[in-house]
Amino acid sequence: MLTMKIHSLSLIISVICLILLQWLPSGTNTCHALSIREATIWDLQTAFKQNQLTSRQLVQFYLNEIQRLNPILKGVIEVNPDALYLANKADLERKAKAAGSYSGLHGIPVLLKDNIATKDKLNTTAGSFALLGSVVPQDSGVVMKLRKAGAIILGKASLSEWSAFRSPTAPAGWSARGGQGKNPYVLSATPCGSSGGSAISVASNMVAVSLGTETDGSIICPSSFNSVVGIKPTIGLTSRAGVIPITPRQDTIGPICRTVSDAAYVLDAIVGFDYNDAEATGKASNYIPSGGYVQFLKADGLKGKRLGIVRDPFFKFSEKLVAQAFQNHLQTFRSNGAVVVDYLEIANISTILTSTLSGETTAALAEFRISLNAYLKELVASPVRSLAEVIAFNKKFSDLEMIKEFGQDIFLAAEPTNGIGDAENKAIWNLEELTRNGFEKLMVQNKLDALVTVGFNASPVYAIGGFPAISVPAVYDSKGVPTGICFGGLKGTEPKLIEIAYGFEQATKIRKPPTFIP
Ligand SMILES: *[C@@H]1O[C@H](CO)[C@@H](O)[C@H](O)[C@H]1NC(C)=O
Ligand SMILES: *[C@@H]1O[C@H](CO)[C@@H](O)[C@H](O)[C@H]1NC(C)=O
Repeated sequence: MLTMKIHSLSLIISVICLILLQWLPSGTNTCHALSIREATIWDLQTAFKQNQLTSRQLVQFYLNEIQRLNPILKGVIEVNPDALYLANKADLERKAKAAGSYSGLHGIPVLLKDNIATKDKLNTTAGSFALLGSVVPQDSGVVMKLRKAGAIILGKASLSEWSAFRSPTAPAGWSARGGQGKNPYVLSATPCGSSGGSAISVASNMVAVSLGTETDGSIICPSSFNSVVGIKPTIGLTSRAGVIPITPRQDTIGPICRTVSDAAYVLDAIVGFDYNDAEATGKASNYIPSGGYVQFLKADGLKGKRLGIVRDPFFKFSEKLVAQAFQNHLQTFRSNGAVVVDYLEIANISTILTSTLSGETTAALAEFRISLNAYLKELVASPVRSLAEVIAFNKKFSDLEMIKEFGQDIFLAAEPTNGIGDAENKAIWNLEELTRNGFEKLMVQNKLDALVTVGFNASPVYAIGGFPAISVPAVYDSKGVPTGICFGGLKGTEPKLIEIAYGFEQATKIRKPPTFIP
């Protein structure tokens, strides 16, 4: 069944090519250059400018792809009924203005993780029926910025329900509303989560670009497993207003895209001050470089960078093939002018990686109850108004939410917490101390530009300190399952991380489109 689907997919592309050819002056058969599959924002904007493509054609292409692939991949929860209307509007805007006056995300379809609020016909539910029919007061901060940039909200992406904060036994990429998201490379492999649908959908070309959110690993892990590029921005660089929260101490919203270049374009569109997340975005605004992030897409971005390796526990591999690939990547760093600072250590690393010991769990449970209750209270209408009511809903609709199978243990642990007391303050202090003695000391003492790790295994290091990280496709194992390479840095060092990530990506060009291996 799947092979048939993939076969007819290439037919669609030919059809689109035929449509596009009509727009071209005769004799300029450049149809191969117009394939929408794997096209970057830059490619699409160029095609817009040369009148080879309209936003409407682009949106129609993705709607067809979603219809074909999503029944299997389940990366998308909802499609925006207004997407074609918005595309027409973008096309008209482009026609009305001088050629080249629109760029960046104008006319580009974006998919949003289902915890990012939109004030339109789309629901915002974190994958749970408990929030179906809830009415948000306004667009989330990042969506306001996307709309201002002219992006088209194509729909909502599936996710691990409640961003994996309901139950530790619920499968990654599964939600009651979205079903089980599938890894498009190897359908039987995990897509990881919690921003699973965002990564699945860009990997399989069901959309141009997407947004995910991360509290601890939720952008980096699915990016790694679906062979795409994910940026987990410094805390506060992107507004969390209107995003179904876990903890404002760690939550961050970032791009999940096929290339570093696309991710930089999306980052440019979503960063900046937001009145509704004023403290964090105000502070982090100082990190935004004048001229934005796209200027750091330098092919020689690795040159002169100091890259740290902490072999124990971050350079351990399941397979010889994967180990060899990473060994080669170290060589690529060196041959492109980077300095590899090897065999480093992070103090207390096993504590940092164990959330029940570091204090991460203690702090997050209490912070979650406070923030979720605040989010639910602000809704214009909602079936549930507090964590207690979500728990009651889950019990009542136990079959619908598969409570019998997966439970809601994290919710049940969070509900008895009562604000930030002594235990929470101590936990937060401990997290700060671990960061000072651990990652910050490592970076400063060794004058590192980035720490290099495998997959998502360093996520807690970046989570508890609010640090940025980028995942870039790095290898496919013997079964075809992808793993990313992760570059993490100190707060506000996105420009350097983008240089490193782009330099690595251009030197290796590892990513290939998925082939849906059963
Ligand atoms: C949002 O949810 C309602 C049910 O409450 C449903 O009727 C509607 O189709 C959903 N919106 C979209 C865009 O799927
Ligand atoms: C971490 O390690 C350092 C040095 O080994 C130690 O002094 C410190 O107390 C440890 N604990 C924390 C919370 O940083």
